[in-house]
Amino acid sequence: MNSTTNIVLRRPDDFHVHLRQDADLGEYAREAARVFARVLVMPNLVPPILEGPDVSRYRQAIREQAPALEALMAFKLLPRHTPAQLASLKTAGAVAGKVYPEGVTTNSEDGITDLRQIWPLMPVLEELGLVVCCHGEKPGVFSLDREERFLDEFSQTVTKFPNVRFVLEHVSTASAVECVEHLGANAAATITLHHLEITLDDVIGGMLKPHLFCKPIAKRPSDREALRQAAFSGNPKFFFGSDSAPHLKGKKECAAGCAGVYSMPVALEGLAEVFERAGKLERLEGFCSQFGAEFYGLALNEETVTLVRDAWKVPDLAHGVVPYRAGELLAWRVATLSTGTPLNA
Ligand code: DOR
Ligand code: ZN
Repeated sequence: MNSTTNIVLRRPDDFHVHLRQDADLGEYAREAARVFARVLVMPNLVPPILEGPDVSRYRQAIREQAPALEALMAFKLLPRHTPAQLASLKTAGAVAGKVYPEGVTTNSEDGITDLRQIWPLMPVLEELGLVVCCHGEKPGVFSLDREERFLDEFSQTVTKFPNVRFVLEHVSTASAVECVEHLGANAAATITLHHLEITLDDVIGGMLKPHLFCKPIAKRPSDREALRQAAFSGNPKFFFGSDSAPHLKGKKECAAGCAGVYSMPVALEGLAEVFERAGKLERLEGFCSQFGAEFYGLALNEETVTLVRDAWKVPDLAHGVVPYRAGELLAWRVATLSTGTPLNA
């Protein structure tokens, strides 16, 4: 029995979210603003965020819908980017380029087949101080082996360009954790809430659970354990990126369902539960409010957020999407931000 009734944390950031576009954007962005000060917004829209003006327009659209949310912008990094385009992306405020291997996830048909295809751009990325975020899966490989098979080209790239920062996104295997641990200080990894909790058995081991289907797919219990140990370790190379990826209910519950877990409605509350159950609550703040900001060279947030022990039921549907842990009880509720903003359940 744990007697803690309040958790006060430095306000967290989420270094990997999908806020989508058009009519969907407002609800998803305000959901993120409920808790997070800053979010790194992924660029896999249709059409994608590719150039400076795309970044400016998208950030403006987010600002209009959720003025309190600080959107850190990422663009889709392609081998055909010119130095002038990269400079204009930086001027427009982008902090990172996201690399998508071809066909491995939502809207990645135009992706690369090998990370070495972007090596010619590295001197420019270095000069501009742009972070390279990698969806780390090798196209064409058996789905459970895709992440592991990406690690060789990732390691080579990180080692060859020590002055460029690389983030291996949403790691899902023990091999990826080990790889990032052994690379230099210019490599880090994000870990999602759902990869800390589920394995492939939760997705397909019994009844099919389409709302837990994501890329990279959740793996073995030993992989989940390695991710948990990395998150609880206090190693600043591992920090939070939710990969909250909403798809409308009908796009998940169908013959060809989209990949993505919509965890934003429970992100911080769910993390608190995971860290508390492991007896590692003291490591939560580093993981979600400090290490990511430090890796990206950003100031730490000044405000705090307070969680109280007050169970609540996760809704079955949020903005037309079945959220992570829908219908389940969560132990922690986000009560207030130090800005005084009262929060709804
Ligand atoms: O499951 C996923 N969904 N993984 C990704 O990498 C992309 C995301 C999405 O955009 O739906
Ligand atoms: Zn993602």
